[in-house]
Amino acid sequence: MIFTVAIDGPAAAGKGTISKAVAAHFGFAHLDTGLLYRAVGAKVLAGADPLTAAKTLDPTDLENDALRTPEVAQAASQVAVIAEVRSALVDFQRSFAQRIGGAVLDGRDIGTVICPAADAKLFVTASPECRAERRFKELQGKGMDVSAQQVLADVIERDKRDSERATAPLIAAADAQQIDTSDLTIDEAVNAAIAFVQSRLG
Ligand code: CDP
Repeated sequence: MIFTVAIDGPAAAGKGTISKAVAAHFGFAHLDTGLLYRAVGAKVLAGADPLTAAKTLDPTDLENDALRTPEVAQAASQVAVIAEVRSALVDFQRSFAQRIGGAVLDGRDIGTVICPAADAKLFVTASPECRAERRFKELQGKGMDVSAQQVLADVIERDKRDSERATAPLIAAADAQQIDTSDLTIDEAVNAAIAFVQSRLG
């Protein structure tokens, strides 16, 4: 069976948590496409050329905790503006989406550009303040030296860059189910996503 779930939304909206839970519930594979851009961003911070980094990306580059820092997130959103970098990452994402047994991909342009024919599309959002607070706690929990103010500024700056870029901007697909997680617990958000995907599976 081929069944693709596209989960998009702004920074730290809860896409990762929801995607993992949906994938586990249905036994689908999960790809966090943000990690692709983060891995390219990290290589650029280390001195690489963005396009070369994107073209030579290896799956093992994604297994790296250092990709979760705010610096790498900013570098990711800067390389994500470059159309050629995005093109270099398309085939990998589309093949993942077509794998037998079902796939969940989360990112910014999955329902609009990477998998416009996805079987189920979700657009997960929350207020910038909620998202920043959650990300702040997450980074703090990992022992990172960050301030709440810095994290909010980072989230707002990336959302602006991601939404205003010419290629594959952050925008909800017309046929995406929107979930605002501002006032939902993790369980409520996950259950809403699972119920929607279930309705598409029939
Ligand atoms: O975890 P968070 O939502 O903060 O970010 P992420 O999903 O890891 O994505 C990091 C950055 O990669 C984003 O700010 C986007 O600029 C870029 N990205 C993208 O352009 N397209 C995607 N499909 C996924 C991420």
